[in-house]
Amino acid sequence: MAIGVKATPFTFIVHALGIAGAVMVLVWTIHFRGGLAWEASNKSLIFNIHPVLMLIGLIIIGGEAIISYKSLPLKKEVKKLIHLVLHAIALVLGIIGIYTAFKYHNESSIANLYSLHSWLGIVIIVLYGIQWVYGFVIFFFPGGSSAVRSESLPWHVLFGLFVYILAVGNAAIGFLEKLTFLENSGLAKYGSEALLVNFTAVLTILYGAFVILSVLALAPPEDDYSYSAL
Ligand code: HEM
Repeated sequence: MAIGVKATPFTFIVHALGIAGAVMVLVWTIHFRGGLAWEASNKSLIFNIHPVLMLIGLIIIGGEAIISYKSLPLKKEVKKLIHLVLHAIALVLGIIGIYTAFKYHNESSIANLYSLHSWLGIVIIVLYGIQWVYGFVIFFFPGGSSAVRSESLPWHVLFGLFVYILAVGNAAIGFLEKLTFLENSGLAKYGSEALLVNFTAVLTILYGAFVILSVLALAPPEDDYSYSAL
């Protein structure tokens, strides 16, 4: 499935939304929530690393990895390398981000893995890891035969988009969950912080939508190398 419009304008919107999302999650955690810390007596500062790394790492850098075939006027081999390196960075930041949520829970004597968000989170990071390793082995090193590669590609695209959409949805659930905890502890429901968190979640979903649009749209005409859109 492809839509008959050019991908380039969508990829610019992805970059702009990504910068806005990164700024918003940093303003929230640093300005409103007291900052980020790996070790602290105020354990909330450890938790704050979680949304920052999940949004900037898994969602934003992961999204840039996905659209790299559509956004960069480079040769296929270079784009492939950028695609796999950006996904590796997204995966590592995602793993560290999940670790900080566990670290915060453990140091605050809060139970682990009690929520839908946490269950989906584990499923997402495991599938993301499997997708990366499979892609690396089939498309990069040692690399499958050309028949295996061309048979695998639509599945790689489909499975990758499935995991990514799941991750975007789960990030939105994460914002909802944290904001609900804060509102139950007295945070003003229509205050500036609540609006910021809700708009960050809206922006996350818009970011994901423009990543998908970029994937479905046409690669730049001078680019003969990319995979064809779904
Ligand atoms: C796709 C991105 C995300 C993934 C894969 C993910 C994954 C996880 C996982 C696995 C846990 C469980 C930690 C534990 O049980 O000790 C967790 C906890 C948590 N996450 Fe996320 N997270 C993501 C994004 C976010 C975002 C953007 C927020 C926004 C604030 C957030 C808020 C929370 C909260 C409040 C908890 C603690 C409560 C709970 O376990 O449900 N998460 N996350």
